[in-house]
Amino acid sequence: MSSPIIIAVDGHSSTGKSTFAKAIAKELGYIYIDTGAMYRAVTLLAFRKGLVSKNNTISDVHALAGILSGNAGPVEISFRTSGAGGASETWLDGENIEKEIRTIEISRVVSHVAAIPEVRRYVDRRLREIGSARGVVMDGRDIGTAVFPDAELKIFMTARPEVRAERRYEEMRMRGYDVSYEDILSNLKERDYLDAHRETAPLKQAPDAELLDNSDMTVDDQVEWFHELLKRRHLCGF
Ligand code: DC
Repeated sequence: MSSPIIIAVDGHSSTGKSTFAKAIAKELGYIYIDTGAMYRAVTLLAFRKGLVSKNNTISDVHALAGILSGNAGPVEISFRTSGAGGASETWLDGENIEKEIRTIEISRVVSHVAAIPEVRRYVDRRLREIGSARGVVMDGRDIGTAVFPDAELKIFMTARPEVRAERRYEEMRMRGYDVSYEDILSNLKERDYLDAHRETAPLKQAPDAELLDNSDMTVDDQVEWFHELLKRRHLCGF
C-alpha cells in the first residue's frame, strides 16, 4: 500500500456519514474520526459549566472560550476504541461521554456551539493533530473545506430531509430515547439552516468533492459507489 491519505466526508446531518465513513475506514484499515462528536463534547462541557441559556444558546461565549483555552485546567477531548467491535467512543477528561452527547438536548444546542469561532479553532487544532499521521477518514461539515482543504479525497453527502429524519428517528428509538418524528425533523431542518448560514466555516460542498446523495441507497450501494469512485480517481490499491 502506498502512502496513506486523508478522506474527508462532509455533508448534512443524519445522512449516514458515520455509517459510510466507518465502513470505508474498515475496508482501508484507516482510523475513523467523528468530528461532530468534538462539538457535542464541547456542548456537554458548556452544559456542565452552566453556560447554556434557556433558549439553547451559550450565555457566556467568552467564558466557554476561556475554559477551552485551559484557564480552568486542561480540557482533554479524545477518542478511544473499546469493546470487541472496536467502536470509537468519545471521552472528556477521563470520562466516557459517548451516550450523553447523543441526546436531543445536546443536539438542540450543538449548532450554536459549533458556530463560535473560538470553539472551531479549538476543535480544528485537535483534528489537525489527530489527522497529522494521515490514514484517516473524518466525517463532519468542514473537513474538506476548512480543516484539511488539501485532503486527497473529499466526499459530500446529502439526502432528502424526510429520509434523514426517518433514519435518525429509527436510530434514536432503537437506542431507547423517547423522541417524536416531528421534533427530529424540525431539529434537523434548523441545524441544516444554522450549519449552512454560520459565518465561520459554513457547511458547503468543496468544489473538488464528490457528491453522494444516498436518499435511495443502501449502505452496500454506497460502498459499491465508493469502490467505483476509487477506480475512477485511480486511487485503487493506495
Ligand atoms: O454530525 P453531528 O450531528 O454529530 O454534528 C453535530 C454538530 O456539529 C452539527 O450541528 C454541525 C457541527 N459540526 C460542524 O460544525 N463541523 C464539523 N466538522 C462537524 C460537526
